[in-house]
Amino acid sequence: MTSKGGWWAWSTKKKVFLFSLIGIAIVAIGVGLGVGLGIGLKHGSDDNDEGSGSGGDTGGNTTVKWQPEVGVKWQIELLYPLNNTNIDADVYDIDLYDNEKSTISNLQDMGRKVICYFSAGTYEEWRSDASSFEDSDLGNNLDDWPGERWLDTNSKNVRKIMQTRLDLAQTKGCDGVDPDNIDAYDNDNGLKMTKSDAINYVNWLAGQAHSRGLSIGLKNGGAIISSVIKNMQWCVNEQCAQYEECDTYAAFTDANKPVFHIEYPKGDETNDEKNVTTKQMSSACKADSASDFSTVIKNMDLDNWVEYCS
Ligand SMILES: *[C@@H]1O[C@H](CO)[C@@H](O)[C@H](O)[C@H]1NC(C)=O
Ligand SMILES: *[C@@H]1O[C@H](CO)[C@@H](O)[C@H](O)[C@H]1NC(C)=O
Ligand SMILES: *[C@@H]1O[C@H](CO)[C@@H](O)[C@H](O)[C@H]1NC(C)=O
Repeated sequence: MTSKGGWWAWSTKKKVFLFSLIGIAIVAIGVGLGVGLGIGLKHGSDDNDEGSGSGGDTGGNTTVKWQPEVGVKWQIELLYPLNNTNIDADVYDIDLYDNEKSTISNLQDMGRKVICYFSAGTYEEWRSDASSFEDSDLGNNLDDWPGERWLDTNSKNVRKIMQTRLDLAQTKGCDGVDPDNIDAYDNDNGLKMTKSDAINYVNWLAGQAHSRGLSIGLKNGGAIISSVIKNMQWCVNEQCAQYEECDTYAAFTDANKPVFHIEYPKGDETNDEKNVTTKQMSSACKADSASDFSTVIKNMDLDNWVEYCS
């Protein structure tokens, strides 16, 4: 056991002196930490060319020009250059590459907002910039999509290519972007891409989009919603009614951000002009938690054909 030497033997004066020293040290550490954090944040916001950031925040320009409202009507058509603007929808989601700037500005002249789609997480062999990818950027083939492979989204080269795509979206005058295939972690990607890689990438994309005046949404990726939602202006979901997971995506409508929701009741074989049955309509439109979603019923090939919940 201890004898009452040491501390107990010290004079009060000595103790006061020691406490003062400790106090000063705490203040000094606090100031140091504050300055450090400050520099860290500032650094993050300037750091547009950093290949792979350190996770979490966008650290980017959080000024968002366009935040669509919950329940807004939308159309999505990705199969060919848009040739039908007759659907009276407030928002059109169309392919970034396949559409001319004039298509986008025509829609905007009609009072619509335009979201430009591109694949952010897969290599597509037919795109004009496909040769910019390095072999080491590429992972496994996608099962159902010939000519597409998962990308290493931590690669500096991949991120540089995506910056160029976002530049194109800005040049074409898109209001926002729909970066697809950010959920490699949910697939056999061959690159060991994880959920935290996806979080890092999506938040990085958000910073990059926002600094170009573009809004951005999360495509599927239900498992990372809580780590990215504050940087997203909407989400685009496929088949939450079919897979009974609309409650997961309702985190967006709860945060006053729309869920652009697609169901494919005809399955992956049938792409026609026929209306769906009353029963198919009801399964697509009456899912739990989905009453505020912006639902479209589409053919799997995402051509012009669309039906809305009635
Ligand atoms: C739009 O283009 C597609 C593909 O070229 C074609 O099949 C379709 O008939 C066109 N639709 C309209 C409304 O022009
Ligand atoms: C942030 O975005 C706004 C809106 O597009 C833009 O005007 C501004 O220059 C951006 N600021 C930075 C630091 O990127
Ligand atoms: C298909 O449904 C739409 C409403 O979604 C309706 O206006 C149209 O008349 C229907 N067409 C047929 C052939 O029933």
